[in-house]
Amino acid sequence: MSIFGFQPSVPWVPTRDEVVEKLLELLKPQPGDRVYDLGCGDGRIAIAVAKRYPDAHVRCLEIRQDLVEKAKANARDKKARVEIIRADFFSYNIGDADIVYMYLLTSVNQKLRPKLEEELKPGTVVVTLDFPIPEWSEVARVELPRSWQRTLYVYIVGYSDRLPHERSQEALLRGLQRINLEALPEPERGRIKSLLG
Ligand SMILES: C[S@@+](CC[C@H](N)C(=O)[O-])C[C@H]1O[C@@H](n2cnc3c(N)ncnc32)[C@H](O)[C@@H]1O
Repeated sequence: MSIFGFQPSVPWVPTRDEVVEKLLELLKPQPGDRVYDLGCGDGRIAIAVAKRYPDAHVRCLEIRQDLVEKAKANARDKKARVEIIRADFFSYNIGDADIVYMYLLTSVNQKLRPKLEEELKPGTVVVTLDFPIPEWSEVARVELPRSWQRTLYVYIVGYSDRLPHERSQEALLRGLQRINLEALPEPERGRIKSLLG
């Protein structure tokens, strides 16, 4: 039990290095962007993003005190500028996010979905590893064939969370500025071109 009175909703399983590399290739934070890892474990994603994109503001939310301490020590060792906050992601407002990463569970994504829809602004990029967000349509999917952590689902708020006739092209375009299309396999690039009409 944590001081917040909650059990962690998901156990700590760190994202593997090869997936971290793919994520760094895929994401293209703009200067000043706010990037979150919801349930950031030992901070490896947040630290890697902060090192690769020093103009981004990276925030790492983690409920377990031991992992918060580990993430802080890792950030210090790597001289990474990351905000590491002990928080329950269900009750922390993430409305200033431009990019959100989540390696959780489908059941947890399902519970987080109303919060994501309420707080995140159109154009925010949400990437989940292995577990999709129920009822959202990804704009791209990246498969990593040699890894057991093998699928990155890429969503854009204002597009992925809407019914087809309500999807915002403006949100899609805004989100796509934060994705490196070159990092996508050809069929996925083609899919995005078709979304752009
Ligand atoms: C599967 S691990 C992913 C860790 C990290 N994002 C990574 O990819 O290496 C999920 C993390 O979420 C944390 N967590 C679970 N429930 C949480 C909650 N309600 N609020 C904040 N963190 C939570 C766990 O302690 C764990 O570190």
